[in-house]
Amino acid sequence: MKAIVMSDYGNANVLQEREVTRPTPQDHQAIVELQVTTVNSGDQLIRSGAFQEFLPLRFPHILGVEIGGVVKKIGKSVTKVKPGDRVIGLTLSGGGYADYAAVDENLLAVIPETLSLEETVALSGVGLTAWQALFRYGQLQVGQRILIHAGAGAVGHLAVQLAKQHGAYIIATARTENLEFVRQLGADEVVDYGTTDFSEVIQPVDLVLDMVRDGGITDEKSYSVLKNGGKYLSLVSPAVLQNPIVRGIENLFVQVDPHPSDWLSLIRYVQEHKLKIYVERVFPFSYEGVVEAHQINEIGGKKGQLLISWNRKNPI
Ligand SMILES: NC(=O)c1ccc[n+]([C@@H]2O[C@H](COP(=O)([O-])OP(=O)(O)OC[C@H]3O[C@@H](n4cnc5c(N)ncnc54)[C@H](OP(=O)(O)O)[C@@H]3O)[C@@H](O)[C@H]2O)c1
Repeated sequence: MKAIVMSDYGNANVLQEREVTRPTPQDHQAIVELQVTTVNSGDQLIRSGAFQEFLPLRFPHILGVEIGGVVKKIGKSVTKVKPGDRVIGLTLSGGGYADYAAVDENLLAVIPETLSLEETVALSGVGLTAWQALFRYGQLQVGQRILIHAGAGAVGHLAVQLAKQHGAYIIATARTENLEFVRQLGADEVVDYGTTDFSEVIQPVDLVLDMVRDGGITDEKSYSVLKNGGKYLSLVSPAVLQNPIVRGIENLFVQVDPHPSDWLSLIRYVQEHKLKIYVERVFPFSYEGVVEAHQINEIGGKKGQLLISWNRKNPI
């Protein structure tokens, strides 16, 4: 089967097209014929080597974590999915940039007939992250004020919509070109992170959702806008757990946990038109397509999600 592999850490040029052996299922796994996958910050950080200390890879490695496709085969103890099911899921140790992936049945969710894999694939990873950050870690309450940094990104654009649905007051940061997009998603206030210091213009908030990797600048300023007893939720820095507790502010590091009941809630939100995954661009599953998607992701400025599509003519 065709796979786009990385042969070393580095820029998008470390990606290569290769023929690799098709996976066979272990007892608890399903083989999924892929139709869509995503390219997001996580893939980029793994590729560049930024995560190699805690996530060392053996090369060649197949990137791609959020997947959508059709179950082709199942291992002998699989009960939750069957051949022909359309599923989204997570290949936690990679494998999404390939024609077929072997996925643990507990990391798959069957998608209802009425929804497409394109509009649901991002729920499996970034959607789950947004959901768990807001509701599991943040315990967001109706009427609370939340500052969502990076409101136009893959996680951010879903977090803004989910917080809005929940009745929160949302302040979101984004670059100039994406401010209107974030407002349309439901942000009550928007702040241009390129021109304005949010800590000088916003009123105190109950929660901050921080997913900016800028060496702690945003973290520091975020504390200054939190109310006493507020919650600082970082998606990027486990080190926040070591921060001293000041003014009763709780420091939390969000680590996404694949949890089927959260997926079902997210799928229901999409079915009920309460949540929409914005797809900035779809690239073909080819060497050129995957490399370009990585390059576009790295440049920044995207709204929502980048997809890789197989464009299969005759999906089951
Ligand atoms: N802990 C976990 O379990 C978990 C799970 C998923 C993701 N994450 C992390 O969460 C982060 C976001 O992921 P993602 O997939 O949503 O990435 P993404 O789609 O690339 O979004 C990143 C966003 O950050 C914005 N940004 C950059 N600098 C900023 C600043 N100074 N202030 C405000 N916004 C800024 C970017 O805006 P522009 O592009 O317009 O510049 C972009 O919209 C990543 O670092 C990822 O590794 C963690």
